[in-house]
Amino acid sequence: MSEAKQLNVGLVGAGVVGGGVVKHLSRNAELIAERLGVRINLKWVCDKDESRLKSLPIPASQKTGDAQKVLQDPDTHVVVELVGGTGFAKTLILDAFNRGKVVVTANKALLAHHGEEIFEAAAKNSTNIFYEASVCGGIPIIKALREGFVANRFPLIYGIVNGTCNYILTRMTAEGKDFNDVLAEAQKLGYAEADPSLDVDGGDSAHKATILASLAHGFWTGFDNTYVEGIRHVSQFDIQIARELGYTVKLLAVIKSADDSDSAPVEVRVHPTLIPHKHVLASVNGVFNGVVVRGDVVGDTMFYGRGAGADATASAVISDLADAALNLKFGSKQRVPSFVSHRLNARVRTIDDVESRYYLRLTVADRSGVIAKVSKVLADSDISISSVLQREAPETKPSQLPTDHVPLIFMLHTAKDRAVRNAVAEIDRLDVVKDKTVVIRVENFE
Ligand code: HSE
Repeated sequence: MSEAKQLNVGLVGAGVVGGGVVKHLSRNAELIAERLGVRINLKWVCDKDESRLKSLPIPASQKTGDAQKVLQDPDTHVVVELVGGTGFAKTLILDAFNRGKVVVTANKALLAHHGEEIFEAAAKNSTNIFYEASVCGGIPIIKALREGFVANRFPLIYGIVNGTCNYILTRMTAEGKDFNDVLAEAQKLGYAEADPSLDVDGGDSAHKATILASLAHGFWTGFDNTYVEGIRHVSQFDIQIARELGYTVKLLAVIKSADDSDSAPVEVRVHPTLIPHKHVLASVNGVFNGVVVRGDVVGDTMFYGRGAGADATASAVISDLADAALNLKFGSKQRVPSFVSHRLNARVRTIDDVESRYYLRLTVADRSGVIAKVSKVLADSDISISSVLQREAPETKPSQLPTDHVPLIFMLHTAKDRAVRNAVAEIDRLDVVKDKTVVIRVENFE
């Protein structure tokens, strides 16, 4: 056994999460050292922005604006990358590996886009990368998949993995407000970025879905194979109709594998979804995340917690540092490998072939024969209707509709995405259809 009793850490990027790590590492230093038998020593905190460093309650000798100082220090065991982005952060991590250092990162974009290269570089240098904070902030989902559920295959993983979108949808649902109004308020309150596109267009959720899918299924699924739709097109009207039909609208990441053979295709998708009110995820509200993991051995399990913010994310970063500390204590860097590629024949199912139930909201002329025309297109495509809803005009019309048009809602039985998309394109060409049809997937997860 190694005699190492102290893990020296160089933290690069002293923003919100970095500040949280500094705060909680010092607050709980004794407790963590007692639990691990190793002290986590914050040797360096690096940031190019001096004002960020200034406010940190650590000695000036530990602060630097030069990442090379952190990398070149032979005593630094671990580099914590909290810079974000895929440029400097990638160079920093690869440089750290070349020097045999362990890396801890919260960088979901980097892993989703370059994970394969990064994990190979870690293995080549006989070192390790830990990334608990990259998915769902404080929820220990990476450790659960990699260690707690090691006995399982994962036919289904699904959940709410973006707090910003969940906050917006929750308020739209509870207060009857429109997307743009809630987004503006969320920005004022600091729950949404000034440029909210990464969150509201689904990119952030897709990064997390790509990481979870790859880890759960043992091959790099690739960010470009993750299907993604955001929430900008979810209207107040659709939320209300969904509610009447017994559903809540959530932005979900869904990772599904139809059977458990090693070559079975895996679905990796992010999109607004109607889920039954009674489903447990319908009660995951505000900025909270919630993920259901179905293992073939364990059955259904559920994780709930804060997916962002200084404290929750610091909790995940420190848990990775604890793993690195224990590795150091026992003279190992790879007790738990960061990623194991074991399904060489697997692939991601294209969205065309994904099956789901659907909600369609058409805007149609209010006259005879309309339902018959639309139904014929669906029947010709072998798509089965489970219910049709048309409310008498005018009370349920969206305010923007001209008075001679009405909303017509079709709930569909399970159908292939390609078939539904083609049918909707044909429906939208009908002379009785006045606007682009709104299409939202429906899942019961039974
Ligand atoms: N912006 C993300 C969210 C957190 O709103 O959940 C970081 O991935």
